[in-house]
Amino acid sequence: MGGSKVLVIGGGGREHALCLGLFQSTAVSKIYCSPGNAGTAIIASNVDLKNNANLAVIDFCHREAIDLVVVGPEAPLCASLADELAKAGIPCFGPVGILANLEGSKLHAKQVMHKVGVPTADFVVLNADSDIAAALKSYSNNPWVIKRDVLAGGKGVVVTTDYTEASNFIESAIASDGKVLLEQFLPGEEASMLVVMDGSGYVCLPSSQDHKRAYDGDMGPNTGGMGAYCPAPIVTESVFKRVDEQIINPMFDYLSSLETPYRGVLYVGLMITDDGSPNVVEFNVRFGDPECQITLPLIKTDLFQVLMHAATDRIAELNVEFYNAHALTVVLASEGYPSKPVKGKKITGLDISIPNIDVGCKWINFAGVESQGKAMISSGGRVLSCSAMAISLQDAANMAYELISEISLEGSHYRRDIGDKGL
Ligand code: AMP
Ligand code: GLY
Repeated sequence: MGGSKVLVIGGGGREHALCLGLFQSTAVSKIYCSPGNAGTAIIASNVDLKNNANLAVIDFCHREAIDLVVVGPEAPLCASLADELAKAGIPCFGPVGILANLEGSKLHAKQVMHKVGVPTADFVVLNADSDIAAALKSYSNNPWVIKRDVLAGGKGVVVTTDYTEASNFIESAIASDGKVLLEQFLPGEEASMLVVMDGSGYVCLPSSQDHKRAYDGDMGPNTGGMGAYCPAPIVTESVFKRVDEQIINPMFDYLSSLETPYRGVLYVGLMITDDGSPNVVEFNVRFGDPECQITLPLIKTDLFQVLMHAATDRIAELNVEFYNAHALTVVLASEGYPSKPVKGKKITGLDISIPNIDVGCKWINFAGVESQGKAMISSGGRVLSCSAMAISLQDAANMAYELISEISLEGSHYRRDIGDKGL
């Protein structure tokens, strides 16, 4: 076993996936996770660093001689955690604050896409002086797409054909943020491209597809993501080529020309129109959740090496290899999720042994789970996800669904159609 110590920031399913990947690395001797969850506690030491405030994290890194910090969620990145770690000389997987703005501000992301020539939907910015009725009229052929310009924890976008809902959302966003974006609706199928990038180059991880609506058939309210699979067949070789040429390569050229290059993962949320044209619906500056849970296992190369190389501008030196396999995960959500999740319920049937993730394996990614003595208790909207990796997508789906059928949580729900679009 190697001697590197890693601190993972965050406490959801994504961070459990990162810890599981790092746990399998021969270069890692110790993993800390702040704040972590009941799953990370099995393979890492959970620590509570005051909501991951910059100073508390830096202090901890010095005290424990941390070699690499891996930041899961966007909020600490937008709060310039990577900037402070760079000043302290500690490698960080995750971009500096000004670049995290690609996720923190939809308007900034649009301005960058415009400058770089990346295909995306047209938009207008509305403020207190705007004629909202006229703007809605001019975008009225399709559902209205309205986006707040702040980090809103997944609640910042409304896609609706209901005039009253659209205009109320616009008015309340302007009242709280001063402005809001009204965007052209793009019809098509969504996919996620996670790109590990630094100043030396970039590596595209296999594409994936999330399921954002709460219920089967893409019905019901938007959620953080109810399940995902990887790779996504919608991203054919020719679509990938266009994504690379029209989006990722120009973004890399732009980001690597800046004073501090982008070091981390750039999440490219794509809408692929019927003719195979890729458009960007969003950038995130972190791994997707639950996309992370099924993308990392397909990386054959040691995960620590991938993350450490990107944190230190050496990704171009690494030959990153992938399994020729499929992975799929199904999220188990609490009763009432996403609007009013019921928490504090006992979960039974959980396998808490440490998985050796490989082709043919199924495992649980813990998210909103805390342990109370020997009991496992739900503590979030998305509680856990059941994942599997197999040679075929159908086998991965069968295994993940078999695993989730063994788990009981009163009132919980999950989608039965994860992966159907790929099958
Ligand atoms: P965002 O946070 O920007 O990814 O938006 C959340 C969700 O809204 C996306 O995953 C899409 O399902 C949908 N969406 C966002 N922008 C558009 C658009 N221009 N056209 C159609 N759907 C969109
Ligand atoms: N699964 C969507 C996201 O992480 O933003």
